Amino acid sequence: MTAGLLTEEILEKQHDESRQGQLFSGVKITEDAVNPHRKFYIETYGCAMNFSDSEIVASVLMSDGFSATTNFLDADLVLINTCSIRENAEQKVRNRLAELRRIKKSNPDALIGVLGCMAERLKSKFLEEEKLVDLVVGPDSYRDLPKLVTVAEDGQKAVNVLLSREETYADINPVRLNSNGVTAFISITRGCNNMCSFCVVPFTRGRERSRDPYSIVTEAKQLFNESYREVTLLGQNVDSYFWKSESSGESTTFAQLLEQVAWINPKLRVRFSTSHPKDITDEVLFMITKHQNICKSIHLPVQSGSSEVLKRMNRTYDREWYRSKIDRIREVIPGCGITTDIISGFCGETDDDHQQTLSMMEYVKYDMAYMFKYSERPGTPAAKKFSDDISEEIKSKRLSEIVELQHLHQHEMNISEVGREYEVLVESTSKRSKDFFSGRNSQNKVVVFPKKNFQKGDYATVRIVDFTSATLIGDVI
Ligand code: 5AD
Ligand code: SF4
Repeated sequence: MTAGLLTEEILEKQHDESRQGQLFSGVKITEDAVNPHRKFYIETYGCAMNFSDSEIVASVLMSDGFSATTNFLDADLVLINTCSIRENAEQKVRNRLAELRRIKKSNPDALIGVLGCMAERLKSKFLEEEKLVDLVVGPDSYRDLPKLVTVAEDGQKAVNVLLSREETYADINPVRLNSNGVTAFISITRGCNNMCSFCVVPFTRGRERSRDPYSIVTEAKQLFNESYREVTLLGQNVDSYFWKSESSGESTTFAQLLEQVAWINPKLRVRFSTSHPKDITDEVLFMITKHQNICKSIHLPVQSGSSEVLKRMNRTYDREWYRSKIDRIREVIPGCGITTDIISGFCGETDDDHQQTLSMMEYVKYDMAYMFKYSERPGTPAAKKFSDDISEEIKSKRLSEIVELQHLHQHEMNISEVGREYEVLVESTSKRSKDFFSGRNSQNKVVVFPKKNFQKGDYATVRIVDFTSATLIGDVI
């Protein structure tokens, strides 16, 4: 594989490199011409933020002359965008890397790169552990991929895992990968300042920073002009979005940003994720009610229903406070969809703590929940301060009780959905039948319904007639 960079460009980039003090060395200056046939393949694990980052990576590489391929055997550069949130997420990536090694047999020149949170957590240790990895690139270093590829092509190990206090990739126009052409993610913040004790994210993604609102609105407008009809504003904690212009002193809160995006067009839906219960304000709740195109759906991770456990988790709210936030949401936005994340078996969790999580679920009746067993992450405050003292057996038992209760609640809610009418944004052909479309209502519930004359991107008014466990089935009115 050739370098694909002109000499001047390499020199220019080397200059940048010395200014930024990056962790790689030995760029060989060659006379290689741009090779238009270089292909990259990217596979993404983990959260929506990672999927959004892969779209930035694609943009950086395509600006450097790469094209995308969906067949890794065909690629010159194979990238895995990784997740560290739980041990099993990392294990999945390790297994996949072992599989990808066979690419080296058929195409020994292909480079393999690890991106994202695992790259950041393990740094150059990755290169020692996984001998066939050529590049290790942390979440704030994607602009350097072309340079790092050049380094790796020269047979050097290419690593850049520096975290930044400023990088938001605001000026990079993401290339929408595997898109349905209707819904898209827009990153509005990066990193997290919260330090929940169980969580590795503040270490892998660094300090929180907010992206300039003009670039966010411009990206959303462009998506709308390209026929997209829904944007999800993404961040680890979107409610703490805050941007202040250095020149004018003018500032933008998350609620104001929501409004600016909602104003683009009433036909453009706006979603957001994730909200931290301590940061979601009345200003945001009232903004949701003010604009019909801001979706009535809030992802509000509770993590545990026990105040004692929440304190050890450093969530900064207690059971009563969380319940009053739920009451407020229900009061201001009747019918709002509420979803959550729950961890079972955190350090020191007693059976009574677990019962309080179940009773919190009874109180809220979540529309959907992501439910996990606690997985100790090296270096986190919890790993340093507490013992991971709940046995696997008890974690599993508690988790299955949580899952069972959530299924029961979803079933009860599905029954009450029958007969209701919703506006559904048509996203794609349903997996269950080519004669049905699949989309979501404002509350983020998946609805399938007969295609009739609708097109992707239309809004269909649908009456719910039936359901399966995770899907509502509707008739077009
Ligand atoms: N173990 C289990 N679940 C975790 N999460 C974050 N860290 C851990 C961990 N160490 C969960 C939280 C968070 C979601 C994204 O992942 O519930 O909200
Ligand atoms: Fe992790 Fe807490 Fe930040 Fe979410 S808010 S990313 S759980 S530290």
